[in-house]
Amino acid sequence: MENKNVKAVILAAGKGTRMKSDLPKVLHPIYGKPLVGYVIDAAKKTGIIDESIVVVGHGAEKVEEFVEGYDENSKCVLQSPQRGTGDAVAKANPLLEDFDGTVVILYGDTPLVTPETLNDFIKQHHESGAALTVMSAIFDDPTNYGRIVRNADGSLKCITEEKDTTPEEKKIKEINAGLYCLDKKVIFPLFSELKCNNAQGEYYLTDIVALTIAKGLKAEAYVLQNNEEIYGINSKANLAEATKILNKRTNDKLLAEGVTIVDPDTAYISPDTTIGRDTIIFPNVYISGKNTIGEHCKIGPFAHIRDGATIGDNVRIGNFVEIKKSVVKSNTNVSHLSYIGDSELGEHVNIGAGTITANYDPVLKTKTKTIIKDGANTGSNSVLVAPVTMHENSMCAAGSVVTKDVEANALALTRSPLKVFSDWVTNRLQKGKSN
Ligand code: UD1
Ligand code: CA
Repeated sequence: MENKNVKAVILAAGKGTRMKSDLPKVLHPIYGKPLVGYVIDAAKKTGIIDESIVVVGHGAEKVEEFVEGYDENSKCVLQSPQRGTGDAVAKANPLLEDFDGTVVILYGDTPLVTPETLNDFIKQHHESGAALTVMSAIFDDPTNYGRIVRNADGSLKCITEEKDTTPEEKKIKEINAGLYCLDKKVIFPLFSELKCNNAQGEYYLTDIVALTIAKGLKAEAYVLQNNEEIYGINSKANLAEATKILNKRTNDKLLAEGVTIVDPDTAYISPDTTIGRDTIIFPNVYISGKNTIGEHCKIGPFAHIRDGATIGDNVRIGNFVEIKKSVVKSNTNVSHLSYIGDSELGEHVNIGAGTITANYDPVLKTKTKTIIKDGANTGSNSVLVAPVTMHENSMCAAGSVVTKDVEANALALTRSPLKVFSDWVTNRLQKGKSN
């Protein structure tokens, strides 16, 4: 049963009123990647979930546009109106018509779940032979969560939503995390039996537990070890907290892999960035998106790597430097106050302080490339107007505006000649006094 087909259904139709935002909740980004992207990635990284079906509703078009552009193995299905979590899962049914395997249900607003936990969850589900496994967690404060109600012998009985609990049930600290593994062929037919006669008038996915048991089928709980993994985003404060949790996780991993992080509290590093050992991350560095950074580099303090950077070994990215969609090969320095965008920098390149690659044409709204080949140097405060190439070992002088390719070993210079006016200051002072 281990290698049985597994697919994910990701619930993402809800409104997210408390975000107080024009953006659909699941599209709020952490390090540039929308929340639902984290969930899709976690499913994918299990190595056994081969497809995700995302149930969209509020802001459906925008969510769909993201999902379909993000991952070729993900599809969307519309739930309109939103009549509850049970109704949402049922909407995925047409896309799973011929599927005979395990369905894992996830939430699009719960981005911190890890592939390791999902694998463990699926493993328990397969090994126990249960038709349905619900993920639970023990919370000191279970307020607002569905409660896991068990029989005297400890076996699962049902899930009761906060608004429908008895005073006794309210005290239960084992909560429903909202993630489920289920046997598609056995459980999906039960969705048509869900009723909405509850406090919220919704079709509750949670009722599927009691229904499963009533049919004489086996339902179990998987108790989560690390509660952080089911941290859900309902507000901007939650989003900030999730970013912190994620950051701690990423930095701990990088430290364990041999990256030096001077101050992990101010090293903001996206989880999709790989960094080689002995690279030093100085304080106040912000790295978002997907990037690769090699070994023995020095990054920061105060550096911003935006997305799509491939940085070799022994590279220096210094203070107030921004790098975006660029390749920087080994032994190259971009030490101070520079913007490098849509560029390719070779090896042993030295970028002078204040160098700017002018990659954007604001009239045509297009971006073009700057190529700086091995051994080339730019003088301080130079502007390279893309598309432009500086060939091997070429130079441009400080203050130059480079609008044409520079051949190998040549110097490019655009500068009005320096004039020196002798005694200008003395004369000026004397003139001032005689007035
Ligand atoms: C749900 C569970 C609760 C559990 C909690 C964990 C139900 C009835 N309750 O409650 O037991 O403790 O999650 O966080 O399932 N969604 C849709 N369509 C809908 C309604 C919801 O796609 O019609 C999506 C939401 O976007 C969200 C997820 O389902 O991603 C959960 O919905 P939400 O309304 O937050 O459920 P809770 O009330 O938190
Ligand atoms: Ca919720």
